[in-house]
Amino acid sequence: MPLAYWAMLARDHGKLAAMARSKSSNSWLQEHVNDHYVNMAQKDGYRARAAYKLLEINDKDKLIRPGTVLADLGSTPGSWSQVAARIVGESGKVFALDILPMDPVPGVDFIQGDFREEDVLRQFEQLLGGRALDLVISDMAPNMSGMSAIDQARSFLLCELALEFARDHLKPGGSFLVKVFQGSDFQAYLKSMRELFDEVVTRKPKASRDRSSEIYLLGRGRR
Ligand SMILES: C[S@@+](CC[C@H](N)C(=O)[O-])C[C@H]1O[C@@H](n2cnc3c(N)ncnc32)[C@H](O)[C@@H]1O
Repeated sequence: MPLAYWAMLARDHGKLAAMARSKSSNSWLQEHVNDHYVNMAQKDGYRARAAYKLLEINDKDKLIRPGTVLADLGSTPGSWSQVAARIVGESGKVFALDILPMDPVPGVDFIQGDFREEDVLRQFEQLLGGRALDLVISDMAPNMSGMSAIDQARSFLLCELALEFARDHLKPGGSFLVKVFQGSDFQAYLKSMRELFDEVVTRKPKASRDRSSEIYLLGRGRR
């Protein structure tokens, strides 16, 4: 085969890949612009559409109330922290953590660090200053590689660590809300949650896109 032929194939392949990339980013942009929750978030002053997932769950389950003391794991850009801080008021407290920086949210104490690292966990525990929590919320999600086995394993590691944290820091009777991606580890994780909580239910708020395999597990009544 002449070299020029291979060069032409490589060039066309590059063009096709660029077209596919720009098509998918255009459709993402289109979806984002038309998204009802994105528009509402802009109007209501929330940093992300994710705010409406927590608001819907909270309307139903009344997890956050004035005076609630809670930890928000995977908090950046900060919409769950905003929702929580607005509800808990002066008598409550929100502690937040993310591997990425987060612009300050009034009433929220934040530290930046990787939750998988022991010294970050210790720093976060110092921030809590020995206070037992009413609630732990975790919306942590790893950067997706597109390889589902790897993404699921990374995601479940974060879920496991969040559950361990909830076990160590929740008051008896406290609650834990966690984002999980349905996959092969789901049943085993559900079982560990059932061992720790009196009741475990699933929630799929409307703001969570149907095509996403994310679902929220809510454990109530820490034993
Ligand atoms: C879906 S976003 C959270 C959105 C947030 N609940 C909100 O309402 O703005 C998931 C977050 O998990 C964080 N995250 C992922 N891996 C983490 C890790 N190992 N330690 C801490 N945060 C992590 C990401 O940086 C990201 O900000």
